[in-house]
Amino acid sequence: MGRALVTGGCGFVGRHLVRRLLAEGLDVVCVDALVAGTGALHPDLWQRLPRSRFAFLQEDCRAFFARPPEQFDYVFHLAALVGGRVTLETQSLDVAEDLAVDAALWQWATRARPGAVIFFSSSAAYPVSLQTLENHRLLSEEMINFDAAVGVPDLSYGWAKLTGEYLMKLYVERYGRRAIAYRPFSGYGEDQDAAYPFPAICRRLLAEKGAAEVFVWGSGRQRRDFIHISDCIEFIWRTKELLPDGASLNLSTGTATSFIELAETISRQIGWQPAVVGRSSHPEGVFYRCGDTAMQRSYGLTPQVSLEAGIARTLEHLRGLPAAYALAI
Ligand SMILES: NC(=O)c1ccc[n+]([C@@H]2O[C@H](COP(=O)([O-])OP(=O)(O)OC[C@H]3O[C@@H](n4cnc5c(N)ncnc54)[C@H](O)[C@@H]3O)[C@@H](O)[C@H]2O)c1
Repeated sequence: MGRALVTGGCGFVGRHLVRRLLAEGLDVVCVDALVAGTGALHPDLWQRLPRSRFAFLQEDCRAFFARPPEQFDYVFHLAALVGGRVTLETQSLDVAEDLAVDAALWQWATRARPGAVIFFSSSAAYPVSLQTLENHRLLSEEMINFDAAVGVPDLSYGWAKLTGEYLMKLYVERYGRRAIAYRPFSGYGEDQDAAYPFPAICRRLLAEKGAAEVFVWGSGRQRRDFIHISDCIEFIWRTKELLPDGASLNLSTGTATSFIELAETISRQIGWQPAVVGRSSHPEGVFYRCGDTAMQRSYGLTPQVSLEAGIARTLEHLRGLPAAYALAI
């Protein structure tokens, strides 16, 4: 079936991807530095399949890239400093390290010549000027076009992803190699780190059940496109051979949900109806970020997990955790 390298494979997306690759019969080498403040979890906590097909190297992927190259059929590059909104806004220059990490990936790939590089970009690479209260629309893949003017993306994190995609274009066009990219929107799931809004709101509302009023960050009217991690992984698995060289694909549902609506839906499922208010002392990010799904539909991709179902799964998961852990915010 082949051999895959997964950088950042111990993070939220990486864990789901690694399990899928192993289940599909690939051998996996996972390189992850288990960086504090990211969603990293040691494989002992989540990886039960035979170790004969799974190798884990706890190191910075740049150290791995510096050694003589090994042969891989697929390289899934997920390693990145991501974090929640506070990290992106207050540690922007720490996050800029992603630029160095991604440059090392593409340089290594020119030497290692893997079968395909699958680069994890982000919806944060889209121009923020298309995501404001006054001017917003569904974000479609062709809105990032390096042969025309490019817009300013979301902070250093967005710049790193946009630059990573540009380096992919050079890798494909100048080196004649195969690479594709995915742009996840707000991926969420049961085991996501509490720094992200979806699990954080679920945890907080479970803890505050019965309160007359609960809060969400920013105005609460900002909208995001929440897509369950299982749909993300399925979409990647089904298109990784089909996308043309150099193409990028949204991982999105096309449905924009405000944080207030999200909190209302979660609390309804928990069993009460508080007033949900925004808290302007907490960052909001862009006003509207939602991904067009036309290109995904052209590959026959339709999300299978509704937001309601994803909330139910997450609440069930959190209720099954030891109380002190589940309710820690
Ligand atoms: N989760 C989402 O919804 C989402 C949305 C858009 C983009 N993405 C992209 O998908 C990828 C995975 O995101 P995630 O949500 O799983 O994040 P995460 O924080 O859970 O995982 C990132 C992983 O990368 C590792 N890492 C960071 N720097 C490293 C380095 N230099 N060397 C080796 N390992 C390193 C961390 O230890 C961590 O395990 C990232 O590239 C992210 O930008 C995710």
